[in-house]
Amino acid sequence: MAISQSSDWSATQYLKFGDERTRAVRDLLAQIPLQSPKRIVDLGCGPGNSTEVLANRYPQARLTGMDSSPNMLEKARATLPNVEFVQGDLSSYVPDEPADLLFSNAVFHWLRDAERFPAMTRLIESQPSGGIFAFQVPDNFLEPSHTLMRETAAEGPWADTLKDLNPALDPMASPQRIYNELKPLCTSVNIWHSHYHHVLEGPEAIVEWVKGTGLQPFINPLSSELKEGYLKAYLGRISQAYPRLNDGKVMLRYPRLFVVAVRA
Ligand SMILES: C[S@@+](CC[C@H](N)C(=O)[O-])C[C@H]1O[C@@H](n2cnc3c(N)ncnc32)[C@H](O)[C@@H]1O
Repeated sequence: MAISQSSDWSATQYLKFGDERTRAVRDLLAQIPLQSPKRIVDLGCGPGNSTEVLANRYPQARLTGMDSSPNMLEKARATLPNVEFVQGDLSSYVPDEPADLLFSNAVFHWLRDAERFPAMTRLIESQPSGGIFAFQVPDNFLEPSHTLMRETAAEGPWADTLKDLNPALDPMASPQRIYNELKPLCTSVNIWHSHYHHVLEGPEAIVEWVKGTGLQPFINPLSSELKEGYLKAYLGRISQAYPRLNDGKVMLRYPRLFVVAVRA
């Protein structure tokens, strides 16, 4: 079953932590061994933050941002009026011409596990030899920020509404599985993890952070009363799991998985 979004993304909510979220874009790009690609697609470009980093690094390339969210695309077009943005779904999208670089930051985890490798395979198969397929995804299924979404969902008056919706994103595949799936199409598959430790003002900020992304499928289907109750219960759990630092702030550990594959 597809992940129930049940309302559009909010670029404004997402960009509350834009600097932190975009850091992984730069870290992924730093490992891409291309000097002057001619054709680039930013898959799941969101509000254009990742697209902007790509545009600055490769100003000569024909660059397209694609995303499924009208709200995100509107923001992206306003921010980067000279870049082409198209609406599309990663699970079926194929670029209009072979791309030297297919780049995707923080998107593939939004597909169900069963959809991810078929989509990646189709996209890599569309690339020329030597093309780069690069993506980053949060790998936080077992982090308290995410286990507590699921725990909160299971207990409370919202449990009935949420139990059939399967609102949690599927865990990311292991590096071994990623390698085994992609290697038949690629000359190399470079995989690594980085653990970011984001210092945020307090537990409320952790809730605000995930409200821009992984918490949406949990709260969007709820009435405003249930949503308020869910968020209060979730915040209570988050406050316990993320104790204050000496200066009163909290530290959000955020593991991310990176892959740079070279098309055979
Ligand atoms: C976390 S944001 C990433 C935005 C940007 N790439 C960045 O680096 O911050 C995830 C984006 O993926 C998009 N998305 C989710 N599922 C998608 C799908 N099936 N097809 C295309 N875009 C999708 C969402 O609309 C959202 O803009």
